[in-house]
Amino acid sequence: MINDYTESFEKTKIAGSIAAGALDEVNKIIKPGISTDQIDKICYEYINDHKAYSAPLYYRGFPKSCCTSTNHVVCHGIPSDKILKDGDIINVDVTAFKEGWHGDTSRMFKIGEVSIKAEKLISATYESMMKAIEIVKDGTHLGDIGSTIQSHVEAQGFSVVQDFCGHGIGQTFHKEPNVLHYGKKGTGEKITAGMIFTIEPMINIGNYETKLLKDGWTAVTKDKSLSAQFEHTIGVTKDGYEIFTQSTSKN
Ligand code: MF3
Ligand code: CO
Ligand code: CO
Repeated sequence: MINDYTESFEKTKIAGSIAAGALDEVNKIIKPGISTDQIDKICYEYINDHKAYSAPLYYRGFPKSCCTSTNHVVCHGIPSDKILKDGDIINVDVTAFKEGWHGDTSRMFKIGEVSIKAEKLISATYESMMKAIEIVKDGTHLGDIGSTIQSHVEAQGFSVVQDFCGHGIGQTFHKEPNVLHYGKKGTGEKITAGMIFTIEPMINIGNYETKLLKDGWTAVTKDKSLSAQFEHTIGVTKDGYEIFTQSTSKN
């Protein structure tokens, strides 16, 4: 299909595959006893080996190549010497920049055996993202995306973080529109074929409110309840969508 967004879709897919590939590498080594700095190193090296740049590194002063958000950390956790232990849940968020374009994706990883509650939170979060992606096509309202996520997770007693949202992405890391993960059907801007944006719901077991730690980056749940997140970068087509950050790994 040749149209005016062929190039942006192709380039975003290249960057997106690198970001997804970095997470596949993380998946191979993540286990109790490793530090979040080791995860950062794997992401940095994988992205570098693929002749791309890590967009988070030095972004507004962010010091590392990925975000590692453990347990009650909602997003933007900074990799450190912190050791992962059995029962932890962690989101790793990677953004690759290649030939002028960005691909942004994150996944949850379970460290050893996690609680049933944590399993349920992770499944509900993933399902909410996928259900929202599946309604994307030319003419979908942004409010339909938010409403799909919100109704899916609230039905299970979880809450949607409101302080952070998905975003347009392309030659700029974060651009318009803001893609809220809550909202009402039929409201908000209509998306159109050719648009590229992320859907990245952050879902809490307890209350939706967050607070920022003194490092200026780490956002945590105010009530210290567990939080989960998944993220894909997608493109809108006439009849649907393309996911640019799909994992290529077999397992
Ligand atoms: N990848 C994050 C997002 O989904 C942004 C991280 S910015 C950083 O938008 F500076 F914290 F890395
Ligand atoms: Co994002
Ligand atoms: Co991200």
